[in-house]
Parts: sequence; C-alpha cells; structure tokens
Amino acid sequence: MTSMPDSGQLLRIEDLCVDFLTDRGWTTVVEGVSFDVGPGEIVGLVGESGSGKSVTSLSVLRLLPTAYARTSAGHVWYQGRDLIGMPARELRDIRGNEISMIFQEPMTSLNPAFTIGDQIAEVYRRHKGGRRRAALARAAEMLDLVGIPNAGSRVKDYPHEFSGGMRQRAMIAMALACEPRLLIADEPATALDVTVQAQIVALLSRLRDETGCGILFITHDLGLVVELADRVVVMYAGEVVEAAPALDLYDAPKHPYTAGLLNAMPQLGVRGKELPVIPGRPPEPWRMPAGCRFSPRCGHTSEECLVAAPALRTVETGRSCRCCRTGQLNLVGSS
Ligand SMILES: Nc1ncnc2c1ncn2[C@@H]1O[C@H](COP(=O)(O)OP(=O)(O)O)[C@@H](O)[C@H]1O
Ligand SMILES: [Mg+2]
Repeated sequence: MTSMPDSGQLLRIEDLCVDFLTDRGWTTVVEGVSFDVGPGEIVGLVGESGSGKSVTSLSVLRLLPTAYARTSAGHVWYQGRDLIGMPARELRDIRGNEISMIFQEPMTSLNPAFTIGDQIAEVYRRHKGGRRRAALARAAEMLDLVGIPNAGSRVKDYPHEFSGGMRQRAMIAMALACEPRLLIADEPATALDVTVQAQIVALLSRLRDETGCGILFITHDLGLVVELADRVVVMYAGEVVEAAPALDLYDAPKHPYTAGLLNAMPQLGVRGKELPVIPGRPPEPWRMPAGCRFSPRCGHTSEECLVAAPALRTVETGRSCRCCRTGQLNLVGSS
C-alpha cells in the first residue's frame, strides 16, 4: 500500500475514476474526481441527480458491488492511508468506526425486528467491545445527543415507533456512536419535510462543533449546502466542475452550471423536490458530448467549448473551475 505525504487533510480523494459494467460494456461514470475534507470541516457535494455524488461517496468505503463496479484509477487517502488499496480486513475496522455513513432512507438501514437501542449498541460493541449494558447506556447517550426526548426510555422503541425525522436522528446517533473522524451523509434530509430537513442540518452543524468530526454532506439541494457547508464541490456528469468556499460560491459562481443551480434555487418552503432546474438533461455516461460536457445546456457556449474538454483549473486561492471561459463571463450570484 502506498502512503501519501501528510497533507493535514482528513480525506483526500485524488483523480478517482469509477466504471460500471452496463450492457454497453464498462462505462466510466465518475471521472478524475479530486477534493479534500479537512478535520472538522463540512464539505458539501452537490449536483443534479445522476452526477456521480453517491458513486463517489460509496467508493470511499468501497461499498460498490465489485461484480459490476470498479475503481479504475485514483486514490482515496484517509489520514494518509489509501483506502482503495487497503486489505479488506483493515478497511472493515475503519468503516462505521473512523468513517461512518448515513443515507437518504433510514428505514432501509434500520432493522425493524430490533430496538433502536440494541442496533446502536450493536454497532458500538462491534468496534469498541464491552458489555451490552454499557453499550445500551452509550446508545441512550447518543440518542440524547441527537435530540431525542426521553432518550433513556426511547432506546427500547422499535423503528416503526419513531417518526421519519426521529429515525434519521437515530441513524445519525448510530453513525456517531464510535466517534468517527469523518461522517459521510448522502442526501440525509431529502426524504424528510422541510422543517425536519432544517432540524437535521442544524443537528449536523452542532455535532461538528461538539465532536470535531469532518462531514461530507451530499445533496442535490444547493440551498441546504450553502447554509451548512464550509466549502462546496459541484459535480456535473461525473466530474467536478467547481469547488469554492460556500459563501464565495454563493456570491460569485465561476461556472455557468453553478450559476444555473443558484438561479433555479427554489424559494424557502418548497425546497426538497427534485425539480428540473436547468433546461435540458445531463448526458448519459456512454454518450458524453465532445468538448465541455455542459456545453449543450450552457447559455455561454462558444466555439472553443466544443473543441476540447476543459481542465479543472485553480482560478483563485481555494477556488477551482472547469470552464474554458472562466473570467470572460459575468455570472450572477444569489446575494
Ligand atoms: N448500478 C448501476 N449501474 C449502472 N450505472 C449506474 C449504476 N448506479 C449508478 N449508475 C450511474 O452512475 C451515474 C452516477 O450515479 P449516482 O452517483 O447515483 O448519482 P447521484 O448520486 O449524483 O444522483 C449515473 O449516470 C447513473 O446512471
Ligand atoms: Mg445519490
């Protein structure tokens, strides 16, 4: 296993390429993705449905089925260790312990046959050992931390006795039980109503402050990300097209796709629906346009955009953008 010189980053995804086996053969769906998550940092990964956010995040812990998915290039460094080349046993010690994941639909991740407390306790004991009693006390402590009232008695509830929002809180409690350094949250609020979404976002922000864990927060909803994240990485058609500090991106997007997402941001109150935000649709992975992948939907396309695929370039300290016309365009932000 190779190891990278210490960059001070918690997670570094470097030139990640992921292919799927389809009826057209192996097709690249994530191509050359690179970004970092620092200790205690919240990074938002955004993009329309199908842009490769989940595939990227599942690749971090090698959770994609090897029968039809492969990481064909790149590295995923976690505190200087490459998760891609790591023996499976070593990776199992990291999963759920140092790096935890939560998903959109908590009901599919919770077992209906066991109490919430037992499930959190089980995750804790798998990594930390100890007695069942102590682990159950830990479960109650975690439920209290994520804001479940009467946590001491609610640990005995079954998943169906919790509301959707409470189940997602329970999933977060389970993810945090072993004090992970990194939490990956893939659309954790998408299935919930707007008020509960805001509560989950506030909860994640508080937990970062209290535990110091880094968070990779994945969503198609740029509005949620701007509220929560320190930095934002925007993906389109399997590639990173822009990365910037959240407020800079919000004030002054550099990529026309980011500007399109910002302009189409739904008003507060109707958020959460996956609306077609920009005219047209993202390309299919096996039919990528020549040149810039966004050019067919972009309002600023010129001849040069159709000739060569633009590289992701550093445009300012801490900002990068994949557009041939960076600096030539007058894109409007949202403030
Ligand atoms: N099991 C699969 N087989 C083939 N292609 C897939 C599979 N899962 C996802 N993809 C493709 O990978 C791309 C990225 O998907 P995904 O990461 O789920 O997007 P996002 O999470 O951003 O909505 C899409 O083009 C999707 O069609
Ligand atoms: Mg997804």
